[in-house]
Amino acid sequence: MTEGDPVLRRRAQEVEEKMFGSEELATLAEDMAETMAAAKGVGIAAPQVGVGLRVFIADTADGPLALVNPVITKMSSKKDLDEEGCLSVPGKFGTVGRARSLSIQARSVAGEKIAFEAKGFFARILQHENDHLDGILFIDRLAEAEGDKKA
Ligand code: NI
Repeated sequence: MTEGDPVLRRRAQEVEEKMFGSEELATLAEDMAETMAAAKGVGIAAPQVGVGLRVFIADTADGPLALVNPVITKMSSKKDLDEEGCLSVPGKFGTVGRARSLSIQARSVAGEKIAFEAKGFFARILQHENDHLDGILFIDRLAEAEGDKKA
């Protein structure tokens, strides 16, 4: 799905309890990981494959990590500027300010609770992907970055 498709602009729905551990959810996560790898991306959110559910994948040193119903519970006030792109906004890149570190809680595909802290580039990926679940694209945040530069 690329910019202009309504699924990218809607708030994605929470994954319901009955879906945890289902083949449907596992298959969705596998398909997303494959799509991300094929595009050489570092993250992908379900709306990007046309599914309006709160699921995203982030690439890690240990392979793709699927987070379901993620909630960023804490963000540092310190921000870093860096360039971002998006599989759904082909050919465009831009500087975005993101919190330097954060805390996140989520569930695994099997339903296990996950909670961890992240910083730097990994924290950036998590914020970018979490934005997708709220219908936000990185291009929406460019103006903010420009403001940060002037400040
Ligand atoms: Ni993206």
